[in-house]
Amino acid sequence: MTETTIDVRHLPKQEAYETLDRHLRLVLEGISDPVATMATLSCLLYHGFGHLWVGFYRVVEPGRLLRVGPYQGTLGCLEIEFGRGVCGTAAASGRTLIVPDVALYAGHIACDARSRSEIVVPVVDANGNLMAVLDLDSEHLAAFDHNDALGLERLVRIFAGANNGVSSAVARE
Ligand code: SME
Repeated sequence: MTETTIDVRHLPKQEAYETLDRHLRLVLEGISDPVATMATLSCLLYHGFGHLWVGFYRVVEPGRLLRVGPYQGTLGCLEIEFGRGVCGTAAASGRTLIVPDVALYAGHIACDARSRSEIVVPVVDANGNLMAVLDLDSEHLAAFDHNDALGLERLVRIFAGANNGVSSAVARE
C-alpha cells in the first residue's frame, strides 16, 4: 500500500484521473467496503486537485432522500431530497451534472459560500442501483468540464465492479 497523498494539479486532466484511479486501487488493495472506498476517494480527489469540498451523499431512501457520507472540506448539509439542489437533481436524473456558475443555478444549495462551480456524478452499485452521488465543489468558476465528468465516472465504477458503471451522458446547467 502506498502512503502518499498525491497532487495531480500539474497533470492534464485525463492523466490526472488515470493516476488517481491507479492510486485508488493500490490504496484499497481489494477492500470493497463502500465507506472505506468513499473516504479514500474523497481524500484522493480533495488533496489531488485542491478542491473546496469533495464527498458523497448516500441514498438512504431510494427516490426520496440523500444523506451525507464520507467527505473532505467544511461541514456539508446533512440531508438533501431527490430533485433539490445540484446533488438531488443529479440523483433524480441519474446523470452527471456540471454547474459552471452556481450563482446561475436556481435551487443550488450553498453549504459553503465560497463555492463557485460544482460537478455531481451518480454512483451505481453492482446491481445497477443508485447508491450515492459524488459531489465536488470549487472556489473557481467553471472548474469542471467533460474531462472531469469522464474521469469521475470512471473512478466511481469501482463501486459497481471494474467494468460496470454509469453512462457518460452529461447534463449542463
Ligand atoms: N451544493 C450542493 C449541496 C451540497 S454541498 O455543496 C456540499 C447542491 O446544490 O446540491
